[in-house]
Amino acid sequence: MARSTEFMEDLCTPAFVVDLDIVKRNSEAMLERFAKLGVQVRPHMKTHKTIECADIMTRGLRRCIVVSTLAEASFYADGGYDDILYAYPLTPEKVKRCAELSERLSLFHVLVDNTVALQELKKKPLKQGKVWHVWLKLDCDTGRAGVPHSDPAALQLAKEISGAEGVELTGIYTHCGNTYKCEGELQIKAVAQETTSLVLQFVEKLKAVGIQDVKSSIGSTPSCSHPVLDMAMLSEVHPGNYVFYDAQQSLLGSCTLEDVAVRVLTRVIGHYPHRNQLLVDCGWTALSQDGANRLPTGYAIFENHPELKLVSMTQEHGAVEPVSGNLDFSQFPLGSMLSLIPYHACATAAMHPVYIVHSKGKVVGNWKPTRGW
Ligand SMILES: Cc1ncc(COP(=O)(O)O)c(C=O)c1O
Repeated sequence: MARSTEFMEDLCTPAFVVDLDIVKRNSEAMLERFAKLGVQVRPHMKTHKTIECADIMTRGLRRCIVVSTLAEASFYADGGYDDILYAYPLTPEKVKRCAELSERLSLFHVLVDNTVALQELKKKPLKQGKVWHVWLKLDCDTGRAGVPHSDPAALQLAKEISGAEGVELTGIYTHCGNTYKCEGELQIKAVAQETTSLVLQFVEKLKAVGIQDVKSSIGSTPSCSHPVLDMAMLSEVHPGNYVFYDAQQSLLGSCTLEDVAVRVLTRVIGHYPHRNQLLVDCGWTALSQDGANRLPTGYAIFENHPELKLVSMTQEHGAVEPVSGNLDFSQFPLGSMLSLIPYHACATAAMHPVYIVHSKGKVVGNWKPTRGW
């Protein structure tokens, strides 16, 4: 439910709040970074899933985005967006919805990493003389979806896609998720270089067998926050989290904490001196449990209170202890507000039906994300 109040301190908690000025700054920094390299940014929407934030990320053009669910694809199509890439392994029951989107939009792209999905597309030719725009998902050592780059099956599948009637091999897509195992800029750049080289080598292999004009896209927030020069040879990049950033990204070295645009606001709801604990109204339905034990301060970082640690959460309650020593309860009266920097912004945003957007300390709007699949 949207809450209408002008001031942050009056908000009902827990609340997911977004700093509009930081969002704009993060978005512009990414666009500028890749404009210098001459590479198209196709931002991923999975972090926020809202029209308003997408408008900022696309500078109002409402084109050229990535989504991770068909619910997002339809939501953005309904919102006037076009050139949408559904970057998720395709299964037969989704082909009908993808066909509808392909016929409705000027450009809708799907992702394939196996022949079963390709056969399904071939069984469903598109109307109005349209072709399926297919991106081949290549796994460049992330170890999630995609055909391993070194597997001869990758080239074979590319040839089959390219040779199929009613189907076009539009691009090669790699997530670059292994940057999430990095520590610091140097390691991130090494992974970005390796992934870029592997994708570009694959494109060369395609050319050698006569498959021309295939796009290439890599991206994760760490690699796109610290791009290497060779990324200029890619057609596109597709980061998403950067628009919010989070504590995880600051630990990895993608950003500083000043770049994190989102917080969960929570209030003190109990004092328990006998166990040296405060209780707050932020449980795992308001802050995801990602990152348990990855931060010295527990599940999140308390802004302006490095002495506090969020030690545990149940559905609607969070238990807070001092990092060391005894809590000074007088500093945290019942009802007082605390601000948490989430470990994982995408997972935390996914918990909230509405985001409170603020600028310079004042609430300026509510963003309502799409949900489901
Ligand atoms: C397939 C795919 N592409 C792009 C991204 C965007 O990466 P990031 O969240 O690091 O910005 C993700 C994120 O998980 C993803 O799963």
